[in-house]
Amino acid sequence: MLKITGIHKTFNPGTINEVHALRGVDLTIEEGSFVVVLGMNGSGKSTLLNAVAGSFRVDEGSIKLDDRDVTKWPEHRRAAMIGRVFQNPFSGTAPDMSIAENFAMAASRGKTRGLGWALSKGLMDALRDRVATLKMGLEDRLDNAIGSLSGGQRQALTLLMASWIKPSLLLLDEHTAALDPKSADQVIELSKEVIEKDGLTTLMVTHSMQQAVNLGDRIIMMHRGQIAHDFRGAEKKRLRAEDLLDCFEEIRRREQLDESAAAMLEQLYI
Ligand SMILES: Nc1ncnc2c1ncn2[C@@H]1O[C@H](COP(=O)(O)OP(=O)(O)OP(=O)(O)O)[C@@H](O)[C@H]1O
Ligand SMILES: [Mg+2]
Repeated sequence: MLKITGIHKTFNPGTINEVHALRGVDLTIEEGSFVVVLGMNGSGKSTLLNAVAGSFRVDEGSIKLDDRDVTKWPEHRRAAMIGRVFQNPFSGTAPDMSIAENFAMAASRGKTRGLGWALSKGLMDALRDRVATLKMGLEDRLDNAIGSLSGGQRQALTLLMASWIKPSLLLLDEHTAALDPKSADQVIELSKEVIEKDGLTTLMVTHSMQQAVNLGDRIIMMHRGQIAHDFRGAEKKRLRAEDLLDCFEEIRRREQLDESAAAMLEQLYI
């Protein structure tokens, strides 16, 4: 279970580039829940995931994962509990290392180094079987550098690695956005399978309304560093892509109203 309480994050405080990217986010995600995160560019989706992963310390608030307060834990310590897949297929894996070596690293996640990044025969066989299920022909290429693979192949492997040892939380940040439509579909199918198989607690960012309605059991919509909407249960099930677009439209309308109100106030005080 993930419990986020009142987190705030300001980048470049006190400078001209100051951005209050998270403005008091409260979010509790039950064990096994699959939450889709929507929101316009710059609304704070990636910042929320990065705050949970420990890419930086939050300014205020707390983050609990499986009843452990991880707020002050460094990123590498949290990595023992968290699997991540990023938008960029080049992130999250070591490109010069082979597929097998990357998996060995993933398998030793959170353990002390020095075990040697080699897989035992048993693990190697298990890996070959698992990779074969991708039907990408990669099971015969486990010695190839991961950097030599296509974006779709890398994202599929990164997903397998992120879930190889069951994480307490899986974070997916637009992990299919850089892929062609067919590869994106394949990686989405794989994501569903991986998440369902182990009932992984998941936060997935996407800009695809279709993915949002088809996947998961809850949708949160971020706006200006806060959660503007939270759809769950029967409401989430009923939700169609058009409803979500209406919701975005409503947020945009309110924003314009705010802007014109601010402009009017400005005129009043000039
Ligand atoms: N490391 C950083 N340093 C400075 N500003 C940042 C940093 N990371 C994010 N921001 C700013 O915080 C705000 C939220 O960014 P974030 O990346 O979380 O948005 P997002 O919702 O993921 O957008 P997108 O859909 O474009 O990925 C933006 O204004 C962004 O410029
Ligand atoms: Mg983002």
